[in-house]
Amino acid sequence: MKENKCVVLGVTGGIAVYKALDIASSLRKKDIDVRVIMTKSATEFVAPLTFQAISQNLVTTDMFQEPKAWEIQHISLAQRADVFLVAPATANIIGKVANGIADDMLSTTIMATNAKVIFAPAMNTGMYNNRIVQGNLEKLKKLGYEFIEPDSGRLACGDVGKGKLPAPEIIVEKVMSELYDKKDLINKKVIVSAGPTRTDIDPVRFLTNRSTGKMGYEIAKEARDRGAEVILVSGPTNEKKPYGIDVIDVKTNEEMLNAIINHYDDADIVVKAAAVADYKAKEVSSQKIKKGDGDLSLDFVRDNDILMLLGKKKKNQILVGFAAESQNVIENAKGKLDRKNLDYIVANDITSKDTGFGSQDNRVSIISKNGDITTLEKMNKKEVARNLFDMIMEKR
Ligand code: CTP
Repeated sequence: MKENKCVVLGVTGGIAVYKALDIASSLRKKDIDVRVIMTKSATEFVAPLTFQAISQNLVTTDMFQEPKAWEIQHISLAQRADVFLVAPATANIIGKVANGIADDMLSTTIMATNAKVIFAPAMNTGMYNNRIVQGNLEKLKKLGYEFIEPDSGRLACGDVGKGKLPAPEIIVEKVMSELYDKKDLINKKVIVSAGPTRTDIDPVRFLTNRSTGKMGYEIAKEARDRGAEVILVSGPTNEKKPYGIDVIDVKTNEEMLNAIINHYDDADIVVKAAAVADYKAKEVSSQKIKKGDGDLSLDFVRDNDILMLLGKKKKNQILVGFAAESQNVIENAKGKLDRKNLDYIVANDITSKDTGFGSQDNRVSIISKNGDITTLEKMNKKEVARNLFDMIMEKR
């Protein structure tokens, strides 16, 4: 990402103003230049000084305050913004912008900007569902303004329903995705599979593996940030649902296969980062298996090799596999690339203590079908994902 991207953060007067402090703080930690504009009512909830300290910039509250620089402020901030975020956005600011009213610093600056404007509405459910508010939202969406849907839950007023400001991480994820410097996957459909699969044994027991899903989730987020429509087929993991990605939760090998096949024909890139079980119990006991005095043996039968099936059905898709190996890493990975008719395979050595399963980092080699091998140094999984798509997109 280029240095010093600028987010203008418009803060309007709702109880969720306190969450905007976290948003400003997270953006600052990511080296974003944060410029805060508060409406008068927002200043009733939190003092501008707090935003000033967090953003390390002067906070604008008033159209006619003493200029701190020889610039017309609403114009300079409008031009400076790479993304314009309004969080929390009240019914009032949405209504004003939808109807061309510019009567304070925030509404005039929104009116003057060419940057992408993202509203994160937060208000009482009744207000949010009001047809006038909904009409304003629709009108703005048609004009290219974006919205982060409010969450449902117990609201500050005691009502239960839709209207809560989503968690600051979600809002920051959306903003950072908008700011991402590479947008070479726009109009592309990417399917990613991540995490482990499970094989049931009886109603209380299953077999699974050590995959945490981290690598696959980073690949899905990278594709989203580059502009792709992303479908993430995920085995059971503790990873947070990423913003703006269609997540299909699956448990078994068969569920994973079906979810991918349903979307395969019109996919452009398919990345199989999941650790899929190769065997399933010959019979899943319908009752809990009781202990006996002796040992227990269970029979397992081969399950689908999903990637092999995808390789056979491949038309124009770019198919990427992973190879988790403990010996002869490159040789074994090359064998899988050929057998499964892949375009790329990402190979890693699972015996390495500081990378791989559960770690933030990975040390991989990417092998392409024409035999090129690129060995990357140890890096975090987000960077591995970025390198993978760089390679795929450069070689097309
Ligand atoms: N894979 C799959 N279906 C399986 C097993 C693996 O789709 N039943 C995919 C994985 O998602 C990964 C790649 O195949 O992209 C390699 O997985 P790996 O388990 O390392 O390879 P296997 O073919 O199972 O070979 P082996 O277990 O013998 O190492």
